Amino acid sequence: MYARIIGTGRYLPEKVVTNADLEQLVDTSDAWIRDRTGIRERRVVAEGQTTGDLAEQAARIALEDAGVKPSEIDLLIVGTTTPDLVFPSTACLIQQRLGLGECGAFDVNAACSGFIYALSIATQFIEAGTVKRVLVIGAETLTRMLDWSDRSTCVLFGDGAGAAVLQADSEPGVLSTHIHANGAHADLLSVEVGVSRGFLAEPRGGLAVKMKGNEVFKVAVNTLGRIVDETLAFNNMEKHDLDWLIPHQANLRIIKATARKLDMSMDRVVVTVDKHGNTSAASVPMALDVAVRSGRIQRGDHMLLEAFGGGFTWGAALIRY
Ligand code: ACO
Repeated sequence: MYARIIGTGRYLPEKVVTNADLEQLVDTSDAWIRDRTGIRERRVVAEGQTTGDLAEQAARIALEDAGVKPSEIDLLIVGTTTPDLVFPSTACLIQQRLGLGECGAFDVNAACSGFIYALSIATQFIEAGTVKRVLVIGAETLTRMLDWSDRSTCVLFGDGAGAAVLQADSEPGVLSTHIHANGAHADLLSVEVGVSRGFLAEPRGGLAVKMKGNEVFKVAVNTLGRIVDETLAFNNMEKHDLDWLIPHQANLRIIKATARKLDMSMDRVVVTVDKHGNTSAASVPMALDVAVRSGRIQRGDHMLLEAFGGGFTWGAALIRY
C-alpha cells in the first residue's frame, strides 16, 4: 500500500511586502537581499489573520483539487511552528471549520521541516492500513515572530499555507520519507521564549526569531547534501532518475548548492523563494502546488522534496507523482 498525492492547494495572504518596503524599515537594500537570498518579495498576514485561517483556505483548495469530501478525510496533520493558540492545536481549530468530522487531528512542530515530518507521519499511517485519506498541511505566520528592527532576520521570512491530500493506493506514491534531527545546534536558530521558559519584558514578550545565519547556512548545505544521498541510496536510484527537486525555500544559494549536488539544472528545480520568502513549514507544499498547477510536474515524474530548519530538523521525501 502506498500513499499517493491526489490533490494540492496553497493560500497566500494578500499583502505583498517588497524589498523596497523593507528598505524603509531597516538598513538594508534590495540588492543585498536579492544577492544573498534570492528573495524579491514576501506575503504578510493582515491584522487578525491567523495560521489557521491560511491553513483552512489551502486545505479547501486541496480538497477540491482531490475531489474528496471533507467527511472522507481520516486524519489531519498540520506542520506549524506558529499555531493560533497553545491549545487547542491549529489542526483541531480548523477541523470543524472544514467539516472533517471526528478524525484524528494534531500539529507537528519541526520548524521549516514541518511539512516533510507531517508527510512522513501521514505516509506511515496509510502504509500501515490504519487510514485511507490524510490531509497534510504546512502553514505559518512567521512574520508574527519577527523583530522588525533586526535586518538579519526580518528580510528573510513570509507567511502562507500549502496543503496536500494523500490517499491509499496500490500504485506509488510516496516511495520513501526520511526525517532527522540534531538538537546540538539549538542555539544557532531559535525563538528563545515560550510557555514553560517564560516570556521577557520586551515588546511581544521577546518573541523573535534569532539566527546565526552564516553558521546555519553551512550546516544546511552540508546536511541537505547528505539527506539527498541517503534518499537516493534507500531507493536504489541515481541522480539522473530524478525529474524534479522541490526544496525548502530559505535561500536561493542553498537551493543551488543542492541542485549542483544532484547535477540538476535549475530548470528542474522549483523555486518560489523569490515571491514567497522563507515560509517555514509552508514552503515545500506551496512550491509543490505551484509546480503541479503550472503543469510542469506530470503524473509519473519522480520528485525529491527536502527541508531543513530550526532544531535542527531536516528531512526528505521521494515521490512518484
Ligand atoms: N541587509 C544588509 N546587510 C545585512 C543584512 C541585511 N538585511 N543582514 C545582514 N547584513 C550584513 C551583516 O551585518 C554582515 O555585515 P558585516 O560583514 O559588516 O558584519 C554582512 O551582511 C554579512 O552577513 P552574513 O550573515 O555573513 O551574510 P550571509 O551571506 O551568510 O547571508 C543569510 C545571510 C541570508 C541569513 C544566510 O546566512 C542564510 O540564508 N542562512 C541560512 C538560513 C536558513 O536556511 N535557515 C534555515 C531555515 S529557517 C527556520 O527553520 C525557521
